[in-house]
Amino acid sequence: MGLDIIRRLEEYRADEKRLAWSGTFADYFELVRQDPRIARLAHARIFDMIVDAGVTSEGSEQRRHEFFSDELFGIDPALDQIVEYFHSAAQRLEVRKRILLLMGPVGGGKSTIVAMLKRGLERYTRADGGAVYAIAGCPMHEEPLHLIPHELRGDVEKEYGIYIEGELCPRCRYRLEHDYDGRAEAVRVERIVFSEKARRGIGTFTPSDPKSQDISEIVGGIDLSTIGEVGTESDPRGYRFDGELNIANRGIMEFIEMLKVDERFLYVLLTLSQEQNIKTGRFSLIYADEVVVSHTNEHEYQSFVGNKKSEALQDRIILVKVPYNLQVSKEVRIYEKLLKQSNLQNVHIAPHALHTAAMFAVLSRLEPSKKAGMSLMKKLKLYDGESVDGFTPKDVRDLRDEAVREGMDGISPRYVINRLSSALVKEDVTCINAIDALRSLRGGLGQHTSIGRDQHERLLNLIGEARRDYDEIAKREVQRAFVYAFDESAKTLLDNYLDNVEAFCNKTKIKDPITEEELEPDENLMRSIEEQIGIVENGKRAFREEILIRISSLARRGQTFDYTSHERLKEAIEKKLFADLRDVVKITTSSKTPDADQLRRINDVVDRLIQDQGYCSVCANELLRYVGSLLSR
Ligand SMILES: Nc1ncnc2c1ncn2[C@@H]1O[C@H](COP(=O)(O)OP(=O)(O)OP(=O)(O)O)[C@@H](O)[C@H]1O
Ligand SMILES: [Mg+2]
Ligand SMILES: [Zn+2]
Ligand SMILES: [Zn+2]
Repeated sequence: MGLDIIRRLEEYRADEKRLAWSGTFADYFELVRQDPRIARLAHARIFDMIVDAGVTSEGSEQRRHEFFSDELFGIDPALDQIVEYFHSAAQRLEVRKRILLLMGPVGGGKSTIVAMLKRGLERYTRADGGAVYAIAGCPMHEEPLHLIPHELRGDVEKEYGIYIEGELCPRCRYRLEHDYDGRAEAVRVERIVFSEKARRGIGTFTPSDPKSQDISEIVGGIDLSTIGEVGTESDPRGYRFDGELNIANRGIMEFIEMLKVDERFLYVLLTLSQEQNIKTGRFSLIYADEVVVSHTNEHEYQSFVGNKKSEALQDRIILVKVPYNLQVSKEVRIYEKLLKQSNLQNVHIAPHALHTAAMFAVLSRLEPSKKAGMSLMKKLKLYDGESVDGFTPKDVRDLRDEAVREGMDGISPRYVINRLSSALVKEDVTCINAIDALRSLRGGLGQHTSIGRDQHERLLNLIGEARRDYDEIAKREVQRAFVYAFDESAKTLLDNYLDNVEAFCNKTKIKDPITEEELEPDENLMRSIEEQIGIVENGKRAFREEILIRISSLARRGQTFDYTSHERLKEAIEKKLFADLRDVVKITTSSKTPDADQLRRINDVVDRLIQDQGYCSVCANELLRYVGSLLSR
């Protein structure tokens, strides 16, 4: 361990050294000449960052961007649109001049998308492929190529294929003249790494009270510490270029709830997006190259669109809808991710608990279909790639087309996690199962102020739906554990049955294997199996003879009869075994004390659940009790 940390520290220092490149503009120009990608604009850098992480697409399936795939699940169409925006913007198409606005329901992942882009840039600018260089000392860490006068840019582009856009900021213009005597080639350039904390390349603006919020927060303001010395506001030394828009230059600017801010702010954003300029104090426009991304909810967006005054800005927005995920299996992954990040790792989550909660959440987001025979639950299963009687995966497209607003409403992953947490923090809880989860989800609905009465009613019904689905799963789960030794039990039961059938048909007796006593064929045993498939008293002889004939015809071909050899008999044997199970499980819920044999079987089932099916002893016993109560209804 000790050694490891020393090695890591050394690596870290080596990395810092590698990142600490500094040189003159002449040195920098040489770097760019060799690799013009270094001087990419902001959108192109982000696009490369996403693409470098990898893109997969199988056949006609939805493209998947690895960049997002560890943290965001089930919203690929939205992510694809976002990547498309960066793709066009990277080619310097007109969309570059638009603000990216993510619209979606609460807790649907909008902030997560933006956070991933920001964290991604912090990493990417440390990597070789994402290196960024800036004029040393520039408050906006601007592109050093701005030092090349316009007159020469045409030639540079022709000769080296290097595209240059933008003007020196007032501070750099001043310093070029006063500190460098106009010698652009001597200007210091350094490599920079984006960092939100250090306010480099990544900015965030959170609206507060619109009346008191100062525009200098985004565009900078007079520097009270130097204004006295330099005397005039129009001297760049007397101004702080440290607004969020300034510091986000070259990178990304997140405008939280853009549509809530005061119009003055929107106007600045409009100029930035349209002309790539920040209007700052006494200075003329200051060039900035950054991605502006914001988020909003549907309601706010609708009122924004309805407002005539906002028309100009509406034109400058690229809207991407970010609806909730609609696939149960993906929803489970969201919960797993969130639980891993929480402090609840020590609590056991029973199998199917997350799945059941996810079913409820996804159901709440679905819109009813007009297709005949299509229930919400069937839709949920089709969406998750399961096969559903009477429908094909092709129907999924129709269903999606039919419900354009689907996913814009419903229960958020955040709500589900909060409810699971509140169920988990109760004292003495060491495990939470599907029923606990549903109970807690239901309990929270009352406290949820935004849920109206109809809505409440609807959600309660959906909890019922999820529960019915879980009931089936629970029964199957217990059966699975019970019939672990299924083949063994089936074989024993079959042999027993066949011995009796043979004796019955041949009018002979059976020898008890232990006492060697001669016994009449066990009519009770045979009937208990035959009744499972509805063979009546009158039909029993024909059925038994049919079985014997099958045995001998197989024997002639050198084959042996096993319990799968006869379809109906197989069904009868399985049903009989399950009926026995029912009795055993029932005993666990009744006050009756199980006999030794039953107790052994119950313990076997519990062990099986624990060893193979992911249960702990709490939820395994709970499951048996629950299934027992279901079966005795
Ligand atoms: N599709 C998803 N995949 C993975 N995680 C998700 C998904 N949707 C939501 N989450 C998780 O749920 C939580 C809430 O999401 P986030 O804060 O990004 O939503 P938001 O859309 O910004 O919500 P709000 O409108 O309330 O600001 C986050 O932890 C996020 O990671
Ligand atoms: Mg958010
Ligand atoms: Zn500058
Ligand atoms: Zn458990």
